[in-house]
Amino acid sequence: MKFFIDTANLDQIREANELGVLDGVTTNPSLMAKEGIRGEENCRKHYIAICEIVKGDVSAEVISTDYEGMIKEGTELAALHPNIVVKVPCIADGIRAIKYFTDNGIRTNCTLVFSPGQALLAAKAGATYVSPFVGRLDDIASDGIELVEKIVDMYRYYGFQTQVLAASIRSTQHIIQCIQAGADVATCPLSAIKGLLKHPLTDSGLAKFLEDYRKVNS
Ligand code: E4P
Repeated sequence: MKFFIDTANLDQIREANELGVLDGVTTNPSLMAKEGIRGEENCRKHYIAICEIVKGDVSAEVISTDYEGMIKEGTELAALHPNIVVKVPCIADGIRAIKYFTDNGIRTNCTLVFSPGQALLAAKAGATYVSPFVGRLDDIASDGIELVEKIVDMYRYYGFQTQVLAASIRSTQHIIQCIQAGADVATCPLSAIKGLLKHPLTDSGLAKFLEDYRKVNS
């Protein structure tokens, strides 16, 4: 399973990248706004800065919601760097735009996916990635991981090439559940990635190894 980091914060992207296991980055307009990045030109510079840190796919989301606007914006975003993946919302014009991008060799991430039906349309349009939002479904007492499982099963059954990119991951436990569900990618906050490392037996075991070493080496 691939790991993406879900942030536009350059320090966090660098820190995750230094672990050596980072496969890419996802951003969205809210994450860009959180970093105080304003205006088209600054957004573009920021996407390029991210692409220069990480050797992997970087999702950059369109702001337009109409077909022509998405095509123009997505084409410009894709031209910024070969690793840019154009993130497009799962609405009718978005599905049309994904089909256009697919036919024109531009890779896409179909975002804001909350049902298997939406995931089916994204795959039929040729999306590179589909992003089911796990945490936001859990927030409304639905089951985000169950949606990931359903999409993975559907894509395998029909042989779709679209990769299931579990998004809106809120915890380390979500990552473990995504592995079990067969997601191709999980995009996660840095804290959830670091949480994978934590185990009390690792800490106590290492302390004992070092203590025993010092006993005979001091
Ligand atoms: C990433 O692709 C999504 O935009 C992001 O994971 C959404 O996460 P949130 O639900 O925590 O805002």
